[in-house]
Amino acid sequence: MSERWTPDGWRAKPVLQVPDYPDAKALADVEAQLATFPPLVFAGEARNLKKALGRVAKGEAFLLQGGDCSESFAEHGANNIRDFFRVFLQMAIVLTYAGALPVVKVGRIAGQFAKPRSSPMEKFNGVELPSYRGDIVNDIAFTPEARTPDPRRQIEAYRQSAATLNLLRAFAKGGYASVDNVHQWMLESVKGSPQSRRYMDLADRISEALDFMRACGLNFAVDSNLGVTDFYTSHEALLLGYEQAFTRVDSTSGSYYATSGHMIWIGDRTRQLDHGHVEYFRGIKNPIGLKCGPSLKADELLKLIDVLNPENEPGRLTLISRFGADKVGDHLPQLVRAVKREGHTVVWSCDPMHGNTITSTSGYKTRPFDRILSEVKSFFTVHAAEGTHAGGVHLEMTGQDVTECIGGARAITDEDLNDRYHTVCDPRLNAEQSIDMAFLIAELLKRERGDKMQPMPTAAGL
Ligand code: PEP
Ligand code: CO
Repeated sequence: MSERWTPDGWRAKPVLQVPDYPDAKALADVEAQLATFPPLVFAGEARNLKKALGRVAKGEAFLLQGGDCSESFAEHGANNIRDFFRVFLQMAIVLTYAGALPVVKVGRIAGQFAKPRSSPMEKFNGVELPSYRGDIVNDIAFTPEARTPDPRRQIEAYRQSAATLNLLRAFAKGGYASVDNVHQWMLESVKGSPQSRRYMDLADRISEALDFMRACGLNFAVDSNLGVTDFYTSHEALLLGYEQAFTRVDSTSGSYYATSGHMIWIGDRTRQLDHGHVEYFRGIKNPIGLKCGPSLKADELLKLIDVLNPENEPGRLTLISRFGADKVGDHLPQLVRAVKREGHTVVWSCDPMHGNTITSTSGYKTRPFDRILSEVKSFFTVHAAEGTHAGGVHLEMTGQDVTECIGGARAITDEDLNDRYHTVCDPRLNAEQSIDMAFLIAELLKRERGDKMQPMPTAAGL
């Protein structure tokens, strides 16, 4: 791989998952127009996230990353964004307390539109049409017009991302996300949960801690760190033409940054060493993610790390494992060992969603809550055994009361899926399942912390 890098260097490489745009000129015009639009995020913010992730890599923080599988134009609305943000912060407060660690909050939001597909075409009732690739590319309706990739959708995705980010920034910095508020929302959620008895103990202890802080004179609304929160955005940077248009030189450092989101990641289907996605990612300075699925071998991963994080910068690279509950134990340990042996500093995060998708008897794509939890548990077990930090989780979730994943405290069944199955792509944890998951992960974090606090055996005791 050559050292020289330019934002369009990926165009000279093979690139997978490229939509078949019928009008190359229209696409180029849109990309040229996007390149004149304001950036969505600033380099300094991306650097702050990288610093925060550096702490995760060193075992001093935990990463919570989550949001829609795919944002949609139809579901764009203030209530959706607010509800997601509220659920996400409730999860974060539970994890912060249980892990006694700062939680780095990264949404799959404000840019998560483009989807890789296992097949470029989709057949239905004998008719074959291009697959739906996310609202930034085409429309989900099964007609030839809807499925034809339209570059103007990139402009709409950008505008939606800007509006979403604007509201998120207001929520995060305007006082809405104060510890006090988040704690109240969490108590209400726990009260309504069928598992409330199980979660009440932890919830009560958080209440006590906050009462104590209040008694000490802290005012959550005005004390700087408690009235606001840091919230970052992320997405899979699949559509490289769009990403290139938002690749800008940071005037402070002179380096290139992706300004379409704070963190971007490479999907499991597009992580080939000599292909366009890896070429693009190696040149931008943002914190980046790499999805690691069952076909990834340890030696290939090491080569990818050399290219993507040659300076071994803490926080630059998050490895997001997504093997499936039944495969994680076979695959993850060798990758963790190889990375540790070579002295690479990375964040290990667990995506327990994409390896656990099944088709239910009623024909819906779904994910059983138990399998999702099982992969997270195995992830923690592997890291405990290898002496590495289970650094975070990566979830597909929503703040809405949808019925897309089966199981959870309210035991959603196959028959329930039809009630409120709204996702345009993969099934998401609903609000209650997300909070359940946070309490269950909290138990794992507490255990990890407990293990660390075990006294070291003394020489005499060996
Ligand atoms: C995703 O995160 O939505 C996705 C497609 O994941 P993966 O690349 O791991 O399959
Ligand atoms: Co998905």
